[in-house]
Amino acid sequence: MKTIGILTGGGDCQGLNAVIRAVVRRSMARGHRVIGIRRGWKGMITADTVPLDLEAVSGILHRGGTILGTSRTNPYKKPEDLRKVEESFRSLGLDALVAVGGEDTLGVAAKLSAAGYPVVGVPKTIDNDLSGTEVTFGFDTAVSIAVEAIDRLHSTAESHDRTIVVEVMGRHAGWIALHAGIAGGADFVLVPERPIDMDAVCEALRRRRDRGKRFGIVVVAEGAVLPEGAVTKDAAKDAFGHVLLGGIGERIAREIEKRTGYETRSVLLGHVQRGGTPTAYDRWLATRYGLLAADMVEEGKFGMMAALRGGRFEPTPLGEAVAELKTVGGDLIDLAATLFG
Ligand code: F6P
Repeated sequence: MKTIGILTGGGDCQGLNAVIRAVVRRSMARGHRVIGIRRGWKGMITADTVPLDLEAVSGILHRGGTILGTSRTNPYKKPEDLRKVEESFRSLGLDALVAVGGEDTLGVAAKLSAAGYPVVGVPKTIDNDLSGTEVTFGFDTAVSIAVEAIDRLHSTAESHDRTIVVEVMGRHAGWIALHAGIAGGADFVLVPERPIDMDAVCEALRRRRDRGKRFGIVVVAEGAVLPEGAVTKDAAKDAFGHVLLGGIGERIAREIEKRTGYETRSVLLGHVQRGGTPTAYDRWLATRYGLLAADMVEEGKFGMMAALRGGRFEPTPLGEAVAELKTVGGDLIDLAATLFG
């Protein structure tokens, strides 16, 4: 019998509970014991755990959030925290640890595994910016929520002859903005990968007016950058060095109104994109990742992350997955631009 720990770290997203459930069910069927580590790496520092059995994971598949809680704690910030994490591996008797997270959580997992600890990763983030896998769970739900919002904003924008700027999440990568913008028929999409060109935005909106469309929708990723820099709510950095983004949509709305004279509003979707029930696709994806992670533990494939590659679920090296973010390529941004205006 093995003792397997599981933790969820970083920003939450839809599908985390599906992973936990799959890991528990697959591992218990093999006679193993699974313990939940509370609040990400923070729980490994304080050895804060909860036993997980079939009853604990019953009825959670469709629920958003994570039954284990999460945090953005980085145990590599302080040497004493890292020592406590190492001590928890011993005191909890962990034969394996499944870390479910994005670049930050899995970055810690990669370092621990390079130091010899038996860790496997599962790729989570609504931003879909992890390398090594075609898609992360949480992304599909976030895009669906953003598209629903864009659809709703269309009718009110049209009634009032307004432009509406919709700000979606996406710190370093514009995947949500691009997918939601294309699926929602946006008239312009702005992503962190390419500096904002207000002339191009206004030109596209004017082209629309010229052909009689008196309303417009612009989708912007929170991390999109103006020539003068990113717009932040709070410049203070978290444990992984990130500032709190938010507000770019309103800045762009004001600029559009100033330059074109079109009445413009902004909507910030924020954490709505991370909340509530996962789509069927995210439940399926998260479950497949969880089942694979349990198999990787069984086969001792540590230092690896569950991944979807070429339509197949297979392990991929954790170190490679966190080495570089998966961002939107210039060719895709150019292709999307053919739909604008
Ligand atoms: O990393 C996922 C994400 O949702 C980013 O898109 C966003 O910038 C960040 O988390 C928000 O973090 P928090 O939940 O700490 O406000």
